[in-house]
Amino acid sequence: MKKLKFKNGDTMDAIGLGTWKSEKGKVTEAVKIALNNGYRHIDCAATYGNEAEVGEAFSQVFKDGKVKREDVWVTSKLWNNAHKKEDVIPALKETLNDLQLDYLDLYLIHWPVAFKPDVAFPEKAEDYLSLKEAPLIETWNEMVKAKEQGLVKHIGVSNFSIPTLESLMKDTDHTPEMNQVELHPYLQQNKLLEFCSKNGINVTAYSPLGSGDRPDAMKAADEPSLLENPTIIKIAKKHGASPGQILIKWSEQRGTAVIPKSTNEERIKQNLMSAGFQLNEDDMNSIADLDYHFRYVTGKFFETEGNSYDNIYDD
Ligand code: A2P
Repeated sequence: MKKLKFKNGDTMDAIGLGTWKSEKGKVTEAVKIALNNGYRHIDCAATYGNEAEVGEAFSQVFKDGKVKREDVWVTSKLWNNAHKKEDVIPALKETLNDLQLDYLDLYLIHWPVAFKPDVAFPEKAEDYLSLKEAPLIETWNEMVKAKEQGLVKHIGVSNFSIPTLESLMKDTDHTPEMNQVELHPYLQQNKLLEFCSKNGINVTAYSPLGSGDRPDAMKAADEPSLLENPTIIKIAKKHGASPGQILIKWSEQRGTAVIPKSTNEERIKQNLMSAGFQLNEDDMNSIADLDYHFRYVTGKFFETEGNSYDNIYDD
């Protein structure tokens, strides 16, 4: 398995378990299965609404003693309603409490968008705070403090475009250590990857399998399937692998981390086994041709008329 390196020498397994959309009743078992079968990287977020159930798995597995806390990389994310500077560390402490941990390996600003503190998900322009009311740099400076206090080992961002990264980086000496973004063969993000690589920012790929279990309200009627793409299926057959494994391997080979979500025992195990084979140049070239800038999870839903967010992506 490839590992991503951080400046202080820490490393993170490239393949982790995603927990977005993992149901409360299933996620404890899923995380236990993952940790007991070799996963050492679990991706969480406050807004997934299941951190307490993930924490239950951590507590049970670490008590068992076969897997140690320090051998597992745990990421979580600050939700958009806790961007005000006084809210960042309390939100982080709530996540730590839910996860039953005393530190995170990585904490990310989930989106470059701020909601009012009592808004879990916005419905109208008034539900947002403008960037003047909650400047990203103020949120970021609290992330830096959290790192200095030892509550988190690394800090980063998620869903940041190149211009948003640049505008944050010009105001701070603390470059984000990670940018977690949607990334798969239909949205290959070559420019962003190049920018991040030049600036020493690691990248994690979310929705690597196309997130087919999103709520219907988030789906376009005619959205394309990654797992059923003929090129992916052809490459999978050639390697005696599943389409999911090809998609995971593709991300890993490009040097990003990748966090496929599953609550199914067979698929949890299968996804980690993606680390065990190689795609050749022809495979990589055929997959390169699939890029057509398609997003499954569009942050455009935060670009409500009348709020100050009109340019979440630079495309
Ligand atoms: P399940 O949890 O039942 O395994 P993403 O990581 O892109 O958000 O995609 C998650 C979706 O992909 C879930 O519906 C998950 O279902 C499914 N999934 C996870 N692993 C595989 C796999 N190896 N093959 C097919 N589907 C998978």
